[in-house]
Amino acid sequence: MNTWMAAGLFMIGMMGSGLAQDAGSIRLPPPETAGGMPLMQALQARRSSREFAGRPLPPQLLSNLLWAANGVNRPDSGKRTAPSARDWREIDVYVTTAEAAYRYDPATHTLTQVATGDLRRLTGVQDFVATAPMNLVYVADLDRTSDDDAPERKARFVAADAGFIAQNVYLFCASAGLATVVRGLVDPVALGKALRLGPRQQVVLAQSVGYPAGGR
Ligand SMILES: Cc1cc2nc3c(=O)[nH]c(=O)nc-3n(C[C@H](O)[C@H](O)[C@H](O)COP(=O)(O)O)c2cc1C
Repeated sequence: MNTWMAAGLFMIGMMGSGLAQDAGSIRLPPPETAGGMPLMQALQARRSSREFAGRPLPPQLLSNLLWAANGVNRPDSGKRTAPSARDWREIDVYVTTAEAAYRYDPATHTLTQVATGDLRRLTGVQDFVATAPMNLVYVADLDRTSDDDAPERKARFVAADAGFIAQNVYLFCASAGLATVVRGLVDPVALGKALRLGPRQQVVLAQSVGYPAGGR
């Protein structure tokens, strides 16, 4: 397939999803940052679910989810909804859907396509990952970490930073009535290759998200 055909298919796919596309990146609608379930109720509802309805999330819900995950909540500094060790901001959220894989850019609130096709089944080892409408992948970019930290400490910081994002997603899903499960069982080498990661990028965790099976 030539570049123009690929670009055309990409645009058709994005038009179908209701997302605006601009020079290779997809502009998400502005996140709705007010409202949601009271925090204590969201904590009460937080749980792991592994049964998903197949239908994709609409653009506004995807926008809200990604902002909750690791969006910019202080534009003056660019800081995020999730903390990060030494303010490295080294975790990128990748989004794999039935159509393609994207990387979320918090600063512009856009998705950049990194691969075409359905990579969902590569984001884990359990059967449901192939059909969950969306699997997030948390990828550490070690170029954004400092070499002052010993490898053991760096590994702890990176894992913790990904965990905060995962918990933000858990709480957002609890509030929005979505099903989710964070997953460490993943082949990071195969997935990294499919996502075209560089040698200094590491898959840390994945997380499936969708409407609950048989539900709303
Ligand atoms: C770091 C981490 C890795 C996990 N990996 C997986 C996984 O690969 N597959 C899975 O189905 N659940 C996975 N889980 C979800 C746990 O099994 C789940 O959180 C636990 O059973 C408690 O259930 P709850 O989340 O409903 O409280 C993982 C959770 C964490 C925190």
